[in-house]
Amino acid sequence: MDESRLNEIITMFDGGLAKAASVSDIEALKVDFLGKKGHVTSLFKEMGKVAAEDRPAFGEKINKVKERVESGIKEFEKKISEKAVSEKINSSYCDVTLPGKFHEIGHRHPISTTIAEIVEIFGRLGFSVSEGPEIETDYINFDALNVFEWHPARDMQDSFYAGPNAVLRTHTSGVQIRTMLENEPPIKIVAPGRVYRFDEVDASHSPVFHQVEGLLVDKNTNFAAFKGIISSFCREFFGADKKVVFRPSYFPFTEPSAEVDVECINCKGRGCGVCKNSGFLEVMGAGMVHPNVLRNGNIDPEIYRGFAFGMGVERIAMLRYAVRDIRDFYVNDLRVLSQFK
Ligand code: PHE
Repeated sequence: MDESRLNEIITMFDGGLAKAASVSDIEALKVDFLGKKGHVTSLFKEMGKVAAEDRPAFGEKINKVKERVESGIKEFEKKISEKAVSEKINSSYCDVTLPGKFHEIGHRHPISTTIAEIVEIFGRLGFSVSEGPEIETDYINFDALNVFEWHPARDMQDSFYAGPNAVLRTHTSGVQIRTMLENEPPIKIVAPGRVYRFDEVDASHSPVFHQVEGLLVDKNTNFAAFKGIISSFCREFFGADKKVVFRPSYFPFTEPSAEVDVECINCKGRGCGVCKNSGFLEVMGAGMVHPNVLRNGNIDPEIYRGFAFGMGVERIAMLRYAVRDIRDFYVNDLRVLSQFK
């Protein structure tokens, strides 16, 4: 037995250790070198063949080989367990000082908020809420409201048709007829809802928008009562300091008719681009309900009178929130919408 055998074993072990990558590799090395038939174990078995006087020195050498193998294995095991621990730490790393993940809580769309506020104010003035279908008959959307066959608003270009006698309502005024047919006066309702018009989209037009209709029918009402109610609403909604103007106008379903203007919120009445230098902005159409319309609602115009109004919600919301482009309400851009929390 010479030393070259010992060196051979050490070289073999070093080679095996260099290649070892896993716990099972190191287990195999253990068996190969320290197992019953392992290279190191077999060295001890050869002790018998060594001359007695050489044995202590030889024994010492084999022990050195054994220690070398054992410490190599131990070191590897230590390394691999440290690696396992650090991998585990890395994969399940959690920085408890980071802020948590938040789920955005939704909020009302500015158009819904505006409708809710309008309805709430009229609620305090004694009006309840009524609703009608978005697909209306020609009769209710036009004829019953005294809009005759020849009226330009009936032109196909102004309205979307869903069928021969099915129009996407061009205003909420049809709810006036439905409400009158279903209820006895006194009537005091507001009717919010979506309306449709064949309009080109631009900064102030959209083919779909919202209106809030209002209708009051009673024995003793008159234009002064109408002015009182609308002035109260405008004061509440736009602020007590805003001037309100009733301007003569025309609608087939009201007589007399008026348009209501509110002092421009942008320039406070001085005149600017938003109000086309008039100092005022139109917020609704209105008037005393035409006798024909009362009749079509099964109400006797000799006994009852009414007033009605219809306001454009987007218009009002644009004024209220200083929004310059109606499309901002519809594109669902969170940079816009999140400003209305
Ligand atoms: N329906 C009218 C419009 O859409 C508004 C209006 C309603 C006018 C009620 C008078 C009375 O423009």
